[in-house]
Amino acid sequence: MHVQVMDHPLIQHKVTLMRMKETGSKDFRDLLVEITMLMGYEITRDLPLEDVEIETPITKMTGKQLSGKQLGIVPVLRAGLGMVQGLLNLIPTAKVGHIGLYRDPKTLKPVEYYCKLPDVQDRDFIIVDPMLATGGSAAAAITMLKNRGIKNIKLMCLVAAPQGVQEINKQHPDVRIFVAALDDKLNENGYIVPGLGDAGDRIFGTK
Ligand code: URA
Repeated sequence: MHVQVMDHPLIQHKVTLMRMKETGSKDFRDLLVEITMLMGYEITRDLPLEDVEIETPITKMTGKQLSGKQLGIVPVLRAGLGMVQGLLNLIPTAKVGHIGLYRDPKTLKPVEYYCKLPDVQDRDFIIVDPMLATGGSAAAAITMLKNRGIKNIKLMCLVAAPQGVQEINKQHPDVRIFVAALDDKLNENGYIVPGLGDAGDRIFGTK
């Protein structure tokens, strides 16, 4: 199973707070932004740099700056929206696409209902979706990006079930998966155990 569990102590502490059922929407959202920033710092470690000539108040020097096209961030609606701001805090010039999927009640397969992406040329993409449960919608989101010519894709989730990781590994072995926590299993309703419940409902205060 190929997945990078980002288990920095700060991340583990904040995930525990998010799991607690008494944590309300505001704290849940704030924690998700904080964790996304902590994870994003590491996930963006391989961004290419170029030299830039600058002047400090003291002297001229050669500095470094990010090179090439900036990142594309693609939240899977709707819970993925909660992970956008954290990445934008790190990379304000990133472009944000959106993918909407619903599960067909007969086939149980994810069906695309919305897709709006920034221009794809030379751009690396991070798909964000807090809960990697069966992996069905994340795999479909990756396929949607690949069908539009996008090659360099990372998947960033908060909590994953082993089944979801295995599904992405199987369908998209080229896509690296980053999670804050790898949980035990799925229950009969498709929720991650122990998990944190429905991430979308907890972000937006719905039920
Ligand atoms: N989606 C959620 O929001 N929570 C789960 O546990 C599984 C899927």
